[in-house]
Amino acid sequence: MANRAILNVDLRRGTINRNIYGHFSEHLGRCIYEGIWVGEDSPIPNTNGIRNDVVQALKQINIPVLRWPGGCFADEYHWKDGIGPREERKRMVNTHWGGVVENNHFGTHEFMMLCDMLGCEPYINGNVGSGTVQEMSEWVEYLTFGGVSPMSELRQTNGRQEPWKVTYFGVGNENWGCGGNMRPEYYADLYRRYQTYVRNYDDNKIHRIACGPNVDDYNWTEVLMREASRFMDSLTLHYYTVPGDTWEDKGPATGFETSEWFKTLEKALRMDELITKHSVIMDKYDPEKRVGLIVDEWGTWYNVEPGTNPGFLYQQNTIRDALVAGLTFNIFHKHNERVRMANIAQTVNVLQSVILTEGEKMVLTPTYHVFDMFKVHQDAERIDLEVDGGAYSYDGREIPAVTGSASINADGVVHISLCNTNHAEKAVVPVDVRGWGGQSFEVTGTVLAGDMIDAHNTFAAPDTVAPQAFHSFTVEGGVVTAELPPMSVAVLALTPK
Ligand code: AHR
Repeated sequence: MANRAILNVDLRRGTINRNIYGHFSEHLGRCIYEGIWVGEDSPIPNTNGIRNDVVQALKQINIPVLRWPGGCFADEYHWKDGIGPREERKRMVNTHWGGVVENNHFGTHEFMMLCDMLGCEPYINGNVGSGTVQEMSEWVEYLTFGGVSPMSELRQTNGRQEPWKVTYFGVGNENWGCGGNMRPEYYADLYRRYQTYVRNYDDNKIHRIACGPNVDDYNWTEVLMREASRFMDSLTLHYYTVPGDTWEDKGPATGFETSEWFKTLEKALRMDELITKHSVIMDKYDPEKRVGLIVDEWGTWYNVEPGTNPGFLYQQNTIRDALVAGLTFNIFHKHNERVRMANIAQTVNVLQSVILTEGEKMVLTPTYHVFDMFKVHQDAERIDLEVDGGAYSYDGREIPAVTGSASINADGVVHISLCNTNHAEKAVVPVDVRGWGGQSFEVTGTVLAGDMIDAHNTFAAPDTVAPQAFHSFTVEGGVVTAELPPMSVAVLALTPK
């Protein structure tokens, strides 16, 4: 059967939450230190210690929300170590990540300043695994209480008069693993207890986030929803795309075989099944969909770059990662009713980064460009798009050759994102535009493609994989026929005229 896609502009499916384009920055490797924080005395151009180039790049993609300080680091982090004069802050060993000394120079004030500079919402992840209820409760008081209290006064002593606004607060991270190796029943009880003291001060209203399942641990979701859903606003899900069959050999980030290209995309597409199945359980306890699903860790996880600290999780990023990002966003859009936020792991220099740095140099990865191209969907209304682009087969297995999603923004412009997963063949997709009352429109587009399966950007060649204007389409009788190059991600804009 010939490829085809049907776009029903009149079938509106709710808002695509801008927070789906969120980020995650942990005290891990060179993410915070060097990637974001260089200190005021650094020769790298910075504002109050935060590098200017990285801030500018993140603002360009409209970063909506940033999760911090972990990850596994969150359940070892004691926030009081990271306040007050920097030179007096405690030093500790970052036992999870590379055994390096953490000097706590980047703490609460620095993080809140970063969010201010980025114009994004902070998402703070509290410590349940090794922290106390009092410690978590005091952190919230320190951050958000404007009245007379010990924590409010401590904040003011440290130079911040007004409380900050903090909406998103996570009560523990991966408490089934690095966050305490708990059983769901035990964590559900702890969650209920800890969240009680995550208070709403003044007019600050906290969105309480419970630690959700790892991948397909449906029992975790069942227990958490049954025992604690009425105390939470969202539940998290973590799923990484790991092409290798073992954690010891996850596969390289570059120089991989075609079989690994296919396997990576096949595994990335599993996100759809996971969200669908966890949502069925959530629907049972929360049919009104009050509780959101937050995929606050997702992305590719490969072997580290040769010669780098294995605990730093530093990996290159190729057109394959761009496809993973595009496929994943199309899946998140499809589940926009339940998925309210997602945070790629991680922003700079760790796992599927959007930015890589080396000293003063910075490079934007193919994944960055997908965030940039797809930002048009932020807070737009999803519209119904059915795509049948046939199958992409490899070694007897099949995945869809084309995936897509669409939205309409406040100005009435329709955006269609399409991914061609095939590493060797172009995809011709006729999109039949229906339900727009005969509206005439003009089409423009942007495409990101590679000429090799591991095409990537380096500090020496930063624009090897960069978005280009897309002209390979025809428009005839309300049908937009796009010709997508092999291994490409494209976004089309249909502007009414
Ligand atoms: O993102 C790296 C690590 O992956 C996080 O610290 C942890 O939550 C997850 O296992």
